[in-house]
Amino acid sequence: MTIVVTGGAGFIGSNFIFYSLKAHPDYRIVCIDKLTYAGNLSTLKPVMDNKNFRFVKLDICDREGVYKLFDEEKPDVVVNFAAESHVDRSIENPSIFLETNVIGTGVMLDAARKYGVKRYHQVSTDEVYGDLPLDRPDLFFTEETPIHTSSPYSSSKAGADLLVMAYYRTYGLPVTISRCSNNYGPYHFPEKLIPLMIANCLNDKPLPVYGEGLNVRDWLYVEDHCKAIDLIIHKGRVGEVYNVGGHNEMKNIDIVKLICKELGKPESLITHVTDRKGHDMRYAIDPTKIHNELGWLPETTFKEGIKKTIEWYLNNREWWEEIISGEYQNYYEKMYGNR
Ligand code: NAD
Ligand code: DAU
Repeated sequence: MTIVVTGGAGFIGSNFIFYSLKAHPDYRIVCIDKLTYAGNLSTLKPVMDNKNFRFVKLDICDREGVYKLFDEEKPDVVVNFAAESHVDRSIENPSIFLETNVIGTGVMLDAARKYGVKRYHQVSTDEVYGDLPLDRPDLFFTEETPIHTSSPYSSSKAGADLLVMAYYRTYGLPVTISRCSNNYGPYHFPEKLIPLMIANCLNDKPLPVYGEGLNVRDWLYVEDHCKAIDLIIHKGRVGEVYNVGGHNEMKNIDIVKLICKELGKPESLITHVTDRKGHDMRYAIDPTKIHNELGWLPETTFKEGIKKTIEWYLNNREWWEEIISGEYQNYYEKMYGNR
């Protein structure tokens, strides 16, 4: 079995590659990644010498390059992680989100069709459902919840999902989609809430909480997401969407306080800054379908997962210090300098 994994030098894609090479030692994994600011070849160092792994630097929008690769590899399965993934960046500059997330997905779908892949899996997000109110804890996102996006990021992901379903209905392409809640764990790029707060705490820098910090996210340890995708590509029903989440809702402010506590840093580092434009209030996934159909359940509790994550950032300082010492400085200044 050959699986093409796009965006494998990023956070979830790399964790998926590690998981797949371990779980399926006889599979060939071919990673294609453009290596944008969010992609790091150093992340893939542990598998670079694995004979079942190949890395190719390639933009998913490069149709000729993608077709050439599919011609060489004849993949059985495609898992499309590649995306611009940060909501704040999409608010600053939407166009690259349309390019990669919509046009790039279109190219991957065409390649999957042209070369007859047996399964095309699209890694989507719970953000396509919009948000839920804080005063209705009884409401959750199900697969039937209407698409109702808020940011250019989530709109581009929703556009991609619609295209994927159109290829299923129009051409019969064997597709599946997963819509997962917020992930956390090793190799998470330090522009996102949890790794940003860990890095800032360790450097005794202010911890920029948007608004009051009352927004709720439903956190899932990244390996549990990888296991869900692995199950879907092997056992999921073609043409179906599966929501993935572990019923672990937390307010941002509580996460930041917990990180301070774990690292022995004072809460006085917390600074409330101007809120994100159009900020989604609450995400909460109902994972009944993937549980009932595929037997998936999260295995890592938040208590264990956050400890493992903090430990990883403590033990892998060179990985994130190298990132935050480069172009990231300009990004940080632009986003937080005058906030
Ligand atoms: P990430 O930003 O860490 O990684 C994205 C990767 O895609 C990077 O390696 C980047 O170099 C690569 N990439 C970007 N544009 C590309 C292009 N044009 N061609 C090839 N490669 C390109 O993202 P992530 O957090 O790992 O998210 C992966 C996927 O999972 C995304 O599709 C995202 O929408 C989805 N998702 C993320 C979360 C989360 O909490 N992080 C939750 C649900 C779904
Ligand atoms: O729900 C899945 C989504 O989760 C994925 O589709 C996205 O790719 C991923 O980036 C993530 O989106 P969020 O916007 O929820 O994640 P982020 O880490 O950017 O922010 C989490 C919350 O923390 C959000 O309410 C905004 C807030 N926040 C974030 C940052 C970076 C802060 O208060 N301060 C910050 O500095």
